[in-house]
Amino acid sequence: MKALIVANWKMHPKTFKEAKALLAATKHMTALTKGVSVVIVPPSLFLRELSLGHRAGRITFGAQHAHFEGEGSHTGEISMAQVKDAKATYVIIGHAERRAMGETNEDVQKKVAAALFSQLTPIVCIGEGTRGTGAEHFNEVREQLRVGLRDVPEKRLSKIIIAYEPVWAIGGAVAMQPRDMHEMSIFIRKTLIEKFGASAHNITILYGGSVDAHNASDMLRNGDVAGLLVGRASAEITSMTELLRAVHEA
Ligand code: PGA
Repeated sequence: MKALIVANWKMHPKTFKEAKALLAATKHMTALTKGVSVVIVPPSLFLRELSLGHRAGRITFGAQHAHFEGEGSHTGEISMAQVKDAKATYVIIGHAERRAMGETNEDVQKKVAAALFSQLTPIVCIGEGTRGTGAEHFNEVREQLRVGLRDVPEKRLSKIIIAYEPVWAIGGAVAMQPRDMHEMSIFIRKTLIEKFGASAHNITILYGGSVDAHNASDMLRNGDVAGLLVGRASAEITSMTELLRAVHEA
């Protein structure tokens, strides 16, 4: 099985010492897990030192967010160029927790362009806030894709990763069912094919939202996804080790 696991540590762990230990454990397990690549996405304060000190085969690094401007008076922000300079290769854009703080589809659009300009791979997060019995969630996802990827030239589409994370499944107790993810993957691909043509067939789609050792391998096998965006379970040594072990044994 080939899978991309994005480890979004969010605002964990508390100290750099713990971050180093978490990285070491993740590296160790990744080396034992065939076919799995892991993107470590630590708090930006830890990014450079972790990536410079510990780069190895199937471990790469990403940032949890970055500004679309190249530089300027933006207190508290970091730029795509700085992320690149810290030896990261990925950047998460439009995460639900950033959208909740005001990030819009238009911001996502500018950030995707800025990330590609800096030769970073954008991991573009989409996903509906709530899900009713109708088809509204598809409209929400279509709009996020339409606006977020508006400026992407067709030949750059393969440089983009889509992470579908329904907001109701993030930080919760249950993940989405793989068959529902399968349906959503088909919808995402179809929406992108309408805009970009056949090249969208190969778009990389990840699932995120309450992924753990119990549901990871089922989702990888049956969810029509190329990998997983993992929050809480990636930010703690035991749960990350168990998750990678479950993927390994699948
Ligand atoms: P979770 O977070 O795995 O803790 O639900 C996923 C995410 O927000 O990326």
